Amino acid sequence: MNDAPIRWGILATGKIAHQVASDLRLVPDAELVAVASRDVERAQRFAAEHGGSAAVRAHGSYESLVADPAVDVVYVATPHARHLEDARLALEAGKHVLCEKPLTLRADDAEELVALARAKGLFLMEAMWTACHPTVIEVARRLRAGEFGRPGHLHAELGFVVAEGASSRLLDPRLGAGALLDMGIYPLTFAHLMFGPATAFTAQADLVQTEHGAYDASIVITGRYADGVLATMASSMTSWSSRAASIATDLGRLTLDDFHHPTRVVFTPHVAARDWTEQEGTAAAYEITPPEPVIGRGYGNEVAEVNRCVRAGLTESSLVPLEQTLELTRAMDAIRAQIGLEYDA
Ligand SMILES: NC(=O)c1ccc[n+]([C@@H]2O[C@H](COP(=O)([O-])OP(=O)(O)OC[C@H]3O[C@@H](n4cnc5c(N)ncnc54)[C@H](OP(=O)(O)O)[C@@H]3O)[C@@H](O)[C@H]2O)c1
Repeated sequence: MNDAPIRWGILATGKIAHQVASDLRLVPDAELVAVASRDVERAQRFAAEHGGSAAVRAHGSYESLVADPAVDVVYVATPHARHLEDARLALEAGKHVLCEKPLTLRADDAEELVALARAKGLFLMEAMWTACHPTVIEVARRLRAGEFGRPGHLHAELGFVVAEGASSRLLDPRLGAGALLDMGIYPLTFAHLMFGPATAFTAQADLVQTEHGAYDASIVITGRYADGVLATMASSMTSWSSRAASIATDLGRLTLDDFHHPTRVVFTPHVAARDWTEQEGTAAAYEITPPEPVIGRGYGNEVAEVNRCVRAGLTESSLVPLEQTLELTRAMDAIRAQIGLEYDA
């Protein structure tokens, strides 16, 4: 491949599509060349907003976008329940694909996409931006190198109140509604990035029934990892969580503010207090900073990773390997079986 920018097409024009398009403009070798919506006027408005000085082609269908010869990579930003058909559409048209998380609703579907990408020799990655975040990568590297001691327990929580109406994808089981697939995937991925695959999970959830099926409004998961490490992970669509994570070790405690795209990570070594007037540890605390810049909100680093891989002729990323996506999708299948939640979609 030459040095020309990698040309991106965005499939769908919802909230995350706008955020990724804004960060994409900050990545020097990425160019947004096309966008598609089910409604061509929405695509035109999106193209005008994100095109800058360059013309972005507006397609009135997803089929038309994937057939656009000027597009190298298709970014799939539809609701979860559509990821299988939309990512398949792009791969069958010969495009590299970055697909929003979760890659699919079920592991069987994820396996189908992985097999298709491999058969076609195309790049495929789940848009797990947390795994591409320079601070998260740095924390994982230094944790694995032993700098923070021997980890014992991870706690991570991600939740916010979904105030949108029942037509929102977040509350519609036909579109893959639920806290696990929307938010719980982040603490699960974070723990996986720190410790590798879990050996066991247990879960409790609060299920809500709708006329179109059930979804999990809140979920709490415990995980067991190698070397006796345990994790507690919570997500909710009905309460405001801290969005923080902490990892307790035999030397102290790591804390991350907004762990799925952290801005402040601190290691506080345990230092015994000399007497009861002194607070433990705080004097020795130090911050973990990213070795390279965060691009935009962090979606830029994800775009840059896709560009790096496509340019190098790779079909998957070492930051978000397909096997990791498959393991976590299988884990979420097993967790849904425990809480008694099935999607008809
Ligand atoms: N990485 C992250 O930080 C992050 C954050 C939020 C969401 N996400 C993921 O991104 C995906 C989209 O989330 P979002 O919040 O952007 O959703 P959204 O605002 O509802 O947008 C989804 C878009 O998909 C298209 N679409 C196609 N069929 C649809 C249908 N039946 N119902 C609704 N929309 C449909 C629509 O675009 P057109 O009408 O233009 O075709 C719509 O604007 C989800 O899988 C979610 O998990 C990731």
